[in-house]
Amino acid sequence: MLKLVVLVSGGGTNLQAVIDGIESGKIRNARIAEVISNNSNAYALERARNHGIDCRCISPKDYETREAFNQAFLETINQIAPDLIVLAGFLVVIPPDMIKRYRNRIINIHPSLIPSFCGTGYYGLKVHEAALARGVKVVGATVHFVDEGTDTGPIILQKAVAVEKGDTPEILQRRVMEQAEWQILPQAIDLIAAGRVSVKNGIVEVSEKKIHDIDYTIT
Ligand code: GRF
Repeated sequence: MLKLVVLVSGGGTNLQAVIDGIESGKIRNARIAEVISNNSNAYALERARNHGIDCRCISPKDYETREAFNQAFLETINQIAPDLIVLAGFLVVIPPDMIKRYRNRIINIHPSLIPSFCGTGYYGLKVHEAALARGVKVVGATVHFVDEGTDTGPIILQKAVAVEKGDTPEILQRRVMEQAEWQILPQAIDLIAAGRVSVKNGIVEVSEKKIHDIDYTIT
């Protein structure tokens, strides 16, 4: 069974989609070992507690240097020893050592169709504001593996969402979450847990049937 750690910073609606996915059987062969937040006020932590999931807070603010935080953060993750780390609205930069150690074992949900509206500065409502300002007619979300860049890792799943007349950034953000993020994040975890995802030369292949066990990464 795929052991997940979910990292959060805010409301945790994507975490909720993963919890619901596991409870409803949409995500098979996976369990959340722990939820970690950098923000002790994150509602996501409440969601974890409501479902009896262990959670803890670890914040760069509690360390003298970023290096000290990065080391403690990596040690915490190593202690849990997850098969997959899920970034569900996590606003802290992942330490390079963690990316190296968990290569193709960290996934992120981004609220745009990468490579549009992604990279430094594109987070939260800013993504949707930029999409509306550019006048695109289709937006969406992407689940990707995390590499050293910002939103540059191998793309696992994407889902498109139509822009509608009268959309505000807030309305669009909500529609992208409902129609795309909350669908493809659980779906990606299910595919990975089923051993159907592999990465070759930076490109993700999703096979029809299981190709390997939990050690799902081929680099
Ligand atoms: C989502 O829009 C996600 O795509 C982005 O951060 C937001 C988190 O929302 N990475 P929530 O905390 O899951 O509600």
